[in-house]
Amino acid sequence: MFLPLLIAVHVIGVVLWIGGVAFVTMVVFPMIMRMENSLEKVLFFQGVEHRFAKIAKTSVVVVGVTGVLLLHLTGGWNVLFKASGIGPTLMTGVWVFYVFILMFEGRLFKALFRGEAQQDTAKVFYRLSVFHWVILDMSLLAIGVGVWAGHGGRF
Ligand code: HEM
Repeated sequence: MFLPLLIAVHVIGVVLWIGGVAFVTMVVFPMIMRMENSLEKVLFFQGVEHRFAKIAKTSVVVVGVTGVLLLHLTGGWNVLFKASGIGPTLMTGVWVFYVFILMFEGRLFKALFRGEAQQDTAKVFYRLSVFHWVILDMSLLAIGVGVWAGHGGRF
């Protein structure tokens, strides 16, 4: 009973987190790129990211704690980095990548927007949008492979 409950909490965390990433990537970025004014673009983006960062950080903790507990309870540590553990291995990789981004997020944004008045903001947002597509695709791959492998899918 505890294990299915743990998977449910894990997946709810994943839905809130990756759902948010999908929304930012597929809805917010196209909106920003259609805006005319550079300052408006930066303020809107920072407002959205600032709010979403709190949701993402909480979800990352919930997903990480439940994921490690799941690995522990299913005795999955020894399948990590093996073909039979492809699901949890991809999940862990994506999780570590996000933790890294969220830890250095402040510095990353500062570096991106430094001297913004002189910079081409359209170029910065285009690069940010491509980056969001990359992390969204990685996350969807981890979800797809995780569900596939968790329900009997084998190579
Ligand atoms: C430290 C990070 C993580 C660990 C250790 C971890 C580990 C696990 C484990 C052991 C399971 C149970 C698999 C099974 O039923 O055989 C699971 C389920 C799942 N995980 Fe993760 N996970 C982590 C992060 C993530 C992330 C980042 C995502 C999404 C991008 C994700 C998506 C899922 C999904 C969708 C399931 C449900 C699979 C099913 O249908 O049973 N996990 N995770």
